[in-house]
Amino acid sequence: MNVTELLSLPSLERDLARLEPLLRDSVSSGDIFLDEVVTHLIDAGGKRLRPSLALACATAGAQEASGDDLQGAIAVELVHLASLYHDDVMDEAVIRRNVESVNARWGNLVAIVAGDFLLARSAEIAASLGTEVAALLANTLGRLCQGQVSEVRSAYSLERTEQDYLAAIDGKTAALMATSCRIGAITAGLPRHQVEALTTFGRCFGMVFQIRDDILDVIGTQSELGKPAGQDLAEGIYTLPVLRALADPESGPELRTLLGQPLAQPERDKARAIVTHTTAIEDSVKQGRRYAEEAIRAAQKADRSRPALAGALSSLVEGLLSGLPGS
Ligand code: IPE
Ligand code: IPE
Ligand code: MG
Ligand code: MG
Repeated sequence: MNVTELLSLPSLERDLARLEPLLRDSVSSGDIFLDEVVTHLIDAGGKRLRPSLALACATAGAQEASGDDLQGAIAVELVHLASLYHDDVMDEAVIRRNVESVNARWGNLVAIVAGDFLLARSAEIAASLGTEVAALLANTLGRLCQGQVSEVRSAYSLERTEQDYLAAIDGKTAALMATSCRIGAITAGLPRHQVEALTTFGRCFGMVFQIRDDILDVIGTQSELGKPAGQDLAEGIYTLPVLRALADPESGPELRTLLGQPLAQPERDKARAIVTHTTAIEDSVKQGRRYAEEAIRAAQKADRSRPALAGALSSLVEGLLSGLPGS
């Protein structure tokens, strides 16, 4: 998934190039060890999806991003980065962005405090952008934590409902996507109705994004994903395709006997094969499509005056689903 290609807004690539050194500077502490830890994942890459959303919403690709637009974009990427540091501790992940995760390299303790440091830097930037942005980012972080806690609480639970799942991903992923768009709209000083519509776009986009990520955990390969496939299943995170396969009278009973406990590689592959051989993947893609349609409607509503943005955001959300089975 190439974000700038899908968004294809003329000035976005230049703005993202301006963002990179500022992002690195924003985490610099002067302590050699801490600097190495907090730049580890910045240097490893990543799609810069959240800053791209913030910058696209702020500029519509028609003008250069302002200093505040860039700072807003940095603030959301820092929250995202911190959430990855903490998520990899929670998920005991060893690979992130195709490199060793921070916890695998330096241990959980360092990963936790370095994640906190990134959040602190993000809060400082948000405060410099005014109380609305500061409150918004704090609220988003709270929702992200609520989503993560609800996911942890339902680990290995065969009783997890689709509603539980949707509420969890709304918090852990969609809230920050919504806020990325909203911050861009705020720093650009857009009228309120556009701020609201772009926020709705970001939220629906985030739902599609996480549903896609969860589908790829079942059908993807490590080289495509940059992390091991089947990780969610192995760790008891039963996502939409798995919940759909569990509800299927054909596949449900066999799958149920495997799940509910940590899975070694053969069982993990078996569970993935069971889910893949049902209509669960196509059904999940359909659910993703419903959110995508809502996202596109919101983008169109946001942008009567800036049609290039509506087209760019729509092709980004379409790009998430393209190539998935049944899309
Ligand atoms: C990963 O997000 C975490 C999820 C919400 C699934 P991204 O896929 O945007 O991660 P990077 O920034 O490109 O590494
Ligand atoms: C990613 O969640 C972190 C957040 C959304 C906060 P996941 O655990 O689902 O994603 P990956 O698979 O590690 O990227
Ligand atoms: Mg994870
Ligand atoms: Mg996780």
